[in-house]
Amino acid sequence: MLILGIETSCDETAAAVVEDGRVVRSSVVSSQVDLHAQYGGVVPEVASRAHVDLIVPVIADALGEAGVTLGDLDAVAACHGPGLAGALLVGVSAAKALALVGALPYVGVNHLEGHLHAGWLEHPDLATPLAVLLVSGGHTMLVEVLAPGEYRVLGQTVDDAAGEAFDKVARFLGLGYPGGPVIDRLAREGDPRAIRFPRAMAGEIDCSFSGIKTAVVQYVRAHPEVVVADVAASFQEAVVDQLVEKLTLAAAQVGAATLVLGGGVAANSRLRERVAGLAEATGRAAFLPPLALCTDNAAMIAATAAFRLAVDGPTPLDAGVDPGLGLV
Ligand code: KG4
Ligand code: ZN
Repeated sequence: MLILGIETSCDETAAAVVEDGRVVRSSVVSSQVDLHAQYGGVVPEVASRAHVDLIVPVIADALGEAGVTLGDLDAVAACHGPGLAGALLVGVSAAKALALVGALPYVGVNHLEGHLHAGWLEHPDLATPLAVLLVSGGHTMLVEVLAPGEYRVLGQTVDDAAGEAFDKVARFLGLGYPGGPVIDRLAREGDPRAIRFPRAMAGEIDCSFSGIKTAVVQYVRAHPEVVVADVAASFQEAVVDQLVEKLTLAAAQVGAATLVLGGGVAANSRLRERVAGLAEATGRAAFLPPLALCTDNAAMIAATAAFRLAVDGPTPLDAGVDPGLGLV
């Protein structure tokens, strides 16, 4: 079973070929980060136009690297939400066109389910239930995974996503876009205890990141002489503290056997260190996926499509995109 997956929900144009829902034959990701950096964030119309330019070469690369042609495929899948409407439409339209030309089933895939599925690509035998912290520029949620398709949202952000907070604080500090990697690097030179930023919603699995962003702005305006590395380290520590507290509560609530990270913020070195420590301290396994599987990619879409095709069958070709699609 060979599935071509396509992912264009935000600022990555990606295509991948996955065999039997498990074996990644190719995974091509073309990031538009440089294109959006000048604006300090993703500009939806710019993203859609870049997807239009990139989608055909990226799909051709994915097929070429896998050593297959359209005729070898069993299905074509695309992420149909959540995400930016115009951006989603590019990938979905390309997938439907290929499905029509190749007389293949089309499968629309939920982006969030894709992120949750990414863990199984590397570790098909992860011990369940999993407590997953899905944390990126667009989402921050804690999910219990009992089995593929069996998900329960335990908590989520009530305002900004954690990655969004990294990006906004970095922009305010004049550190560039995307903010996560820069703050991660700079934080290593700073003192995480220099400034006590708020840890929101203590005792709850839901989380909040807009207050901490405001606290950073107010602190820096009141203390213009502050060492920027100390701000970065203290901000990062407050975000990571909050995320780890939520994961601790979620894992305890469901009796998780394994802790899993997903999304771009899962690349954060301090978060990875703390989650590994939490797993060890509570006798749980931890799966900290390689970055290529955490950030947006199409292998997770193709892998999820294999599962969805088996369970639900093909998606009708007149199905659209759903920018606000939820997990369950
Ligand atoms: O999953 P992703 O590539 O795209 C979305 O679906 O949003 O995540 C991108 C987010 C950005 O907000 C970026 O700043 C953040 O992940 N990020 C990080 C790190 N690397 C990327 N945040 C903290 N530390 C990092 N090392
Ligand atoms: Zn994502």
